[in-house]
Amino acid sequence: MLGTSRRSAVVSAIGICALVTIWLSAGQLQDSSFGSSIVSSISQHTSSTTSGSTTASIVKNGHLPAPVSRYFNQVFSPEDADHFDYPALKKACDRATWHEDVYLQCGGMFAGMTSIMSEVKVCFKMAVEAGAGLVLPTIPIRDNTNLLEFNNNEDETGDAYMPYDQWFDTKHLIEVLGRTCPKMNIIHPDQLKPDHVSPVAVKNHWEIDVSKAPGYHFTVSHFWTGNPFKIFFDDQLAKLQKASTTTGSGISVIKIASLFLLYNITNDPTGGDLKLWNELAMLIRFLEKPRQIVNQLLAHINRPYYGVHFRAENDSIWNSAEDQMHNDLDVLDKAWAKYGKGAASGINSQLKPLVYLACGDEKQVEMFAAVGKKRGWEVTHKWEIAQKSTTSETLEMINALPFDFQGAVDMGMMVQSYFFIGISGSAFSNTVAHARDPIGRYRWSSLNDEDDGGARTHIVTDGVQSSYPCCL
Ligand SMILES: *[C@@H]1O[C@H](CO)[C@@H](O)[C@H](O)[C@H]1NC(C)=O
Ligand SMILES: *[C@@H]1O[C@H](CO)[C@@H](O)[C@H](O)[C@H]1NC(C)=O
Repeated sequence: MLGTSRRSAVVSAIGICALVTIWLSAGQLQDSSFGSSIVSSISQHTSSTTSGSTTASIVKNGHLPAPVSRYFNQVFSPEDADHFDYPALKKACDRATWHEDVYLQCGGMFAGMTSIMSEVKVCFKMAVEAGAGLVLPTIPIRDNTNLLEFNNNEDETGDAYMPYDQWFDTKHLIEVLGRTCPKMNIIHPDQLKPDHVSPVAVKNHWEIDVSKAPGYHFTVSHFWTGNPFKIFFDDQLAKLQKASTTTGSGISVIKIASLFLLYNITNDPTGGDLKLWNELAMLIRFLEKPRQIVNQLLAHINRPYYGVHFRAENDSIWNSAEDQMHNDLDVLDKAWAKYGKGAASGINSQLKPLVYLACGDEKQVEMFAAVGKKRGWEVTHKWEIAQKSTTSETLEMINALPFDFQGAVDMGMMVQSYFFIGISGSAFSNTVAHARDPIGRYRWSSLNDEDDGGARTHIVTDGVQSSYPCCL
């Protein structure tokens, strides 16, 4: 199903650049033992979280448009996220017809961190529209050394598969869904095992193949307000129920692939679908470690910085690191001319901002730093900032994170930057660009004359793909 060349092009187009680091086994990332219910185990997590002395420093969000600042708070804040009402999510949940004993078990999620986040949004959206509960998804983490090794074996039993609570903050998810979507039941996949302390009995194991939806093509956004997923789902569910011969009690678990780019969320004249999508994005909050690291790095930087996603590691399928670097430096100069010293409302009329590279290849980073210096830019990255800090704690924390979680750190830094430069074919770049725009979609380059809404973002064409397929 996923074995097309189109898929590999899109999947190769995914991901970010980071150094190979020490692998932490899944169990060390976060205590995965669930208690008698999800809620009780979540309170265990809360009480066991470490809070270092550096976590309390203030994240300065003042330069970001309000929705972007909110996104950062919900997804990256070191302390608990602020209360937010999630009005679009609440509206969608109020509207749905809920099936009390039907749960979606989303699968087929893999690739780089930002692609996984998009697939998780697809899963949440399907559940809200179907009016179904959720078995928290299980997602493989990719190999730290071979980035094309996604560990997505067919039966989903591989060691790399980690349940949602080892990827993202489940307490936040449950808290928000509990008040916005109270009819959506959520269980942990471990509860489907008979030896769990509070097992959930399953009456039916069903499966719905979304790729069989009439006219569906992989990576071409299929469902939208004019072709709702709900119609397809209700039809499939009715067929399953009709054919079922099982008796007794228990829930029905429906396996369903959370297909990449399944929804066209921009094709809604009311804008409601995009608002829902943006709120689903804020359910996906990172675990405490990457959030703390972002905050510590921000505390170590004492001046404004521009963020550049330098997609320069050796699995890049786009233009060379040199070409990217020269393009990026040109854009940095233009951004500074427009928003820096030349502009009436410049961020800092005296000193050029620092440049933070979201990239892990140290050689490439050094090349960028050297050439950047000649062109008047001071260029840095997370390891350098951490090394320069007075404690070794931040560096150790970074190096202890798996590859994709280091990507989360860079993502937070890119969202916070005063100007962001990304590359067109990358899911990471596009996700950041969407997150930085107050409407949740990258509209156009902030170097254009049109109002950018404060997004301060420019996506450089990578020489292969001029834009990303709809819709991350
Ligand atoms: C998604 O919707 C937008 C807005 O109507 C449209 O321009 C675009 O072509 C659609 N994309 C896909 C992949 O269907
Ligand atoms: C990229 O670098 C890694 C680590 O040095 C190496 O194992 C891999 O074979 C390289 N891949 C390519 C396509 O050059």
